[in-house]
Amino acid sequence: MKKKDKSQHIILATRNKNKVVEIKKIIGDLVSFATPDRSLQIDIPECGRSLVENSYAKAIFVYRLHGLPTLADDSGLFVDALEGEPGIYSARYGRNDEERIARLLHNLGDAHDRRAAFRVAFVYCYEYGKYEVFEGECTGEIGHEPKGVSGFGYDPIFIPRGYKKTFAQLGPATKNRISHRARALRKFRKYLLEVAR
Ligand code: IMP
Repeated sequence: MKKKDKSQHIILATRNKNKVVEIKKIIGDLVSFATPDRSLQIDIPECGRSLVENSYAKAIFVYRLHGLPTLADDSGLFVDALEGEPGIYSARYGRNDEERIARLLHNLGDAHDRRAAFRVAFVYCYEYGKYEVFEGECTGEIGHEPKGVSGFGYDPIFIPRGYKKTFAQLGPATKNRISHRARALRKFRKYLLEVAR
């Protein structure tokens, strides 16, 4: 496979606009991304038992449709005191971000142990049956109430380790440097530069 350059598109198998913005910000200088053809009405159920399984299913499905290198992801927030919940079910924990956050805070209550981690698995399918996995983690803890307006999802309640503010308070520059997504995408960047020549 040839080294990627900005003239070669990678299909980004996600409909989440916030994720697309973050991914482009972190790695958009190296490759250019296209999103899957909207007319194909892609809706891939997340029925795997892990982030990697879900991400793999998305990557293979979209690769088959387009026949172009495809990057898919699946992510979640894993809370220690809730035995890893909501984890792979993070997107299905409520009908919207507000509901999901309220449910998580309710279930955690005033637990002393508020440790948690955001995790992501990217699967890059570059040829039929050929793929690579890039994982990332950002550890931290869950705040007692939502704070901040930046970002998306569970950002208002996640305080990364070493900081006193939530991702939503810290803003995109800091988040895109230390997040689970940033860590995984740095591995993907290295792969594109060094391995995929
Ligand atoms: P999925 O990867 O699209 O299935 O998203 C899983 C869930 O985790 C969704 O509710 C997202 O909003 C949330 N999520 C994923 N990444 C982040 C993040 O970086 N910050 C906050 N929430 C996130």
